[in-house]
Amino acid sequence: MNIAVNTDPVRKVDAGMLVLPFTGMSLKKNGKELLKELGFECGVLEDFKADAGEVVFLYGTTGKTASGRVALLGFGEGRKTGDYRKAGAAISGRAVDLKIGSVAVDMTGIKAFAATAKSSAASVVAAFVEGCFSGSYRFDRLKSGKTNKKTDDSKPKKIIELIIRSEQAQLAAIESGIAEGIVTGSCQNLTRDLVNLPGNHLEAADIARAAVESGERCGYEVKVFDKEAIEALGMGGLLAVNKGSEQPPTFTVLDYRPAGKASKTIAIVGKGVSFDSGGISLKPSEGMGEMKSDMAGAASVIGAVEAAARLALPVRVVGLIPATDNMPDGSAQKPGDVITTYSGITVEVGNTDAEGRLILADALTYAVKHYNPDVIIDLATLTGACIVALGYSVAGLFSNNDKLAEDICESGMRTDEKVWRMPLWEEYDDMIKSDIADVSNLGARGAGSVTAAKFLEKFIEGHKKWAHIDIAGPSYATGKGGAKVTGGTGFGVRLLVDFLKRWS
Ligand code: BES
Ligand code: MN
Ligand code: ZN
Repeated sequence: MNIAVNTDPVRKVDAGMLVLPFTGMSLKKNGKELLKELGFECGVLEDFKADAGEVVFLYGTTGKTASGRVALLGFGEGRKTGDYRKAGAAISGRAVDLKIGSVAVDMTGIKAFAATAKSSAASVVAAFVEGCFSGSYRFDRLKSGKTNKKTDDSKPKKIIELIIRSEQAQLAAIESGIAEGIVTGSCQNLTRDLVNLPGNHLEAADIARAAVESGERCGYEVKVFDKEAIEALGMGGLLAVNKGSEQPPTFTVLDYRPAGKASKTIAIVGKGVSFDSGGISLKPSEGMGEMKSDMAGAASVIGAVEAAARLALPVRVVGLIPATDNMPDGSAQKPGDVITTYSGITVEVGNTDAEGRLILADALTYAVKHYNPDVIIDLATLTGACIVALGYSVAGLFSNNDKLAEDICESGMRTDEKVWRMPLWEEYDDMIKSDIADVSNLGARGAGSVTAAKFLEKFIEGHKKWAHIDIAGPSYATGKGGAKVTGGTGFGVRLLVDFLKRWS
């Protein structure tokens, strides 16, 4: 999607679709006048309420606009940037469905929109552009098209050009908003692609390769540890989970350093289980295919580090990704096994399906020991229990630092990737005790997302600013949670980018 700014009068903008956006307020103020000017009857205003994401098409402009098709687009009340993101997603989705390759959006009202949102013009435009990336996203690379002879290949399958119409005075702000929206929008889509790729198309080595390619594209360093190197390090958690697999594990470190002196070092760790069958503690077959998304944390880490590099944020961001699939096999680890992790802490494996915490344990310890980060955050599709607690649109947040937790919550609210804090009280420690090892990977009944977090906490070597975000619910839309779009959501990328900016 190429995005250009244009200062021509609205009626002269020539595109497959001309979009006139309104907040409820601006619709009341200017709706009638603007429509008259473009040669439309105003009866449509009885049907169009400018709800966020509402779209009404108008046809037959009696030649008063260069664009053949005009769409009224609702920004809702326009009080939060999320309204603009939602609208961008709605209109771009419609454009793709209708195979309209060029879309022009009249953003001359941007000053008023920004004032309503109590935000900057650039942030409002960035949110809108992010929405356009997400709404026009389609995961169709595995469709050959061979069974659908009806598809008309002459029409564009994606938005080729998005034109944003601006007044001269707002040009700079709009351009900077576009630049930012392109980065977060495209990085989030990269994350979605990785999540959507099934287990046979994305193995541990492919996760590492995706990171290497991103590093080459965007100018940051990526180091990949192969199985031998992982053995040499003694990452017993990652190796234990990998035992039943035909595919070797990888451990990837992405290291973005800003040009000047970095103000802070932030480590972000992502669970990279390319497919989770449960191992010997095999999962039930229903819905097991969704476990191709068990590397969503890793995918968000790649997306966020890439975004930090492309935005040239003044913080060092170290991404750490332990990756493997979790398979049952004659050589697989068994329930009851005791393993020694990278930290030296021994773990009794009560359930081989609680594999995420085993691989994260090693990565967390590695992050603290080798990078001494100011902050360490991990993202993981860690527990079904977190979905039971919070559902499909909100992630669970666990942190040993109140200020850090508050910052992450705020980033979540600002970016519409909401997190809700859960406790880490010591009462829960008793639930993961083992008789024969230092700790068990299986909690007692209840509070499954908390005991998983308590387990991770043991591997941060006493670090004082750690947060764990359980994204099992919001990272992948099954359709059950009421979401229209199914598959990988890219959850966490926007939140992390916002957080990194604030810590810059
Ligand atoms: N990857 C799953 C968690 C999960 C479940 C993510 C549903 C997304 C949707 C994780 O590895 C897992 O299997 N967790 C177990 C832990 C249990 C065995 C202690 C769970 O949540 O049931
Ligand atoms: Mn599992
Ligand atoms: Zn898992």
